[in-house]
Amino acid sequence: DPIAPPDLSTCKPAEITPGGSETVPCCPPVTTKIKTFKPDLSIPLRTRPAAHQVTDEYLAKFKKAQAAMRALPDDDPRSMVQQAKVHCAYCNGAYPQVGFTDNDIQVHYSWLFFPFHRMYLYFYERILGKLIDDPTFALPYWNWDSPVGFPIPDIYTDTSSPLYDQYRNADHQPPVLVDLSYGGTDDDVDEQTRIDENLAIMYRQMVSGAKTPDLFFGHAYRAGDLNTQKYPGTIENMPHNDIHIWVGDPTQTHHEDMGNFYSAGRDPLFYAHHCNVDRMWNIWKTLGGKRKDITDTDWLDAEFLFYDENAELVNCKVRDSLEPEKQLRYNYEPAPLPWLFTKP
Ligand code: C2O
Repeated sequence: DPIAPPDLSTCKPAEITPGGSETVPCCPPVTTKIKTFKPDLSIPLRTRPAAHQVTDEYLAKFKKAQAAMRALPDDDPRSMVQQAKVHCAYCNGAYPQVGFTDNDIQVHYSWLFFPFHRMYLYFYERILGKLIDDPTFALPYWNWDSPVGFPIPDIYTDTSSPLYDQYRNADHQPPVLVDLSYGGTDDDVDEQTRIDENLAIMYRQMVSGAKTPDLFFGHAYRAGDLNTQKYPGTIENMPHNDIHIWVGDPTQTHHEDMGNFYSAGRDPLFYAHHCNVDRMWNIWKTLGGKRKDITDTDWLDAEFLFYDENAELVNCKVRDSLEPEKQLRYNYEPAPLPWLFTKP
């Protein structure tokens, strides 16, 4: 059976490290009124831009929206604090599975990874748009699959901006190029080597190593499963995880913010990182062969709950997220795919 949506009333303190004793409160406000997600075709199509080349006009809007989100009271489910807690709750064991209460919901390391984060970004983006009364607002993506996008996008590093977060690795600020296979230590290779290595990783994770849905999305995760299998898909495993660790602050106990699930959503850069992960899903489906969405109903009918831009709780299924232009009304500004032609 598919993973069922959480029962918010059973939410418990989250574990900062799995099985560890240190916990953190991540539960959302509880409501019993739950709407069912329906695509709203009256929403204008939103195009997500590459973060390293946004216009001044766009940046002004984005900062205004992010500042407004930060200014909401902490108990508003749309606030920055609560939005970060969404990730914490679904990732750090706050929700027992309904009917299998010994096992918690975990949206990483499995086929739930791509659709969960897609819906999470969708609501985050819609909330930002609502806060500036602009339904065309679209999140930017961090174009880390292309050399021009390897550094952390500048818009996130201005310390006076609402897009800034203080808990990041001080040694990885622009113009340092991201290391897509960062293992926790800097290996100080020259720029051309870094570029070649990063592009080879992208080729492997998208093309040669991701020929089937099982490899790309990660293994099945069904109701009652204990998700300690750690069978993530190619992109989730690398570069997604590596980028989290590369951005997080190694001087913080738990590698906050980006380096731990419980705190990652506190950094606005998280959402740009995940937009590019999400973009990879779209691109992968265009690469041919068996590269298609999973057809198993235990995937299609898995459900999540999110608060929407009106602070109403919405139930979404994986099947609601497969065609972003049609169902969620967004797409991505195209960018070159240099890794596609750099077969190692
Ligand atoms: Cu839910 Cu990038 O992790």
